[in-house]
Amino acid sequence: MGKTTTVMNLAAALSRANNVLVVDVDPQQSAARWAERAGDDLPFDFAADVDPNNIMGLRDLDGYDIVPRRHAWQP
Ligand SMILES: Nc1ncnc2c1ncn2[C@@H]1O[C@H](COP(=O)(O)OP(=O)(O)OP(=O)(O)O)[C@@H](O)[C@H]1O
Ligand SMILES: [Mg+2]
Repeated sequence: MGKTTTVMNLAAALSRANNVLVVDVDPQQSAARWAERAGDDLPFDFAADVDPNNIMGLRDLDGYDIVPRRHAWQP
């Protein structure tokens, strides 16, 4: 419990000293609703995508140092 809450608060804290991108890969999309409510006040970059093919492409992004993730789909 508290996964989404933890991710969004951790991202906000880390964004004070890092370029942070949060990607919501959970079909439930609760982080995406959170980000939508925050709008321009969200202090980090945000994307929502549940397509595994697009998510794999995130590895090639420049400008972010760490990409923690959890698989939201069955392998
Ligand atoms: N430390 C906390 N104290 C009290 N309530 C909390 C705390 N952390 C989260 N909550 C509340 O618990 C609920 C679930 O939190 P959250 O959505 O972060 O969990 P989750 O693990 O992502 O859930 P799910 O498995 O459904 O994705 C939310 O209503 C949130 O506001
Ligand atoms: Mg959640």
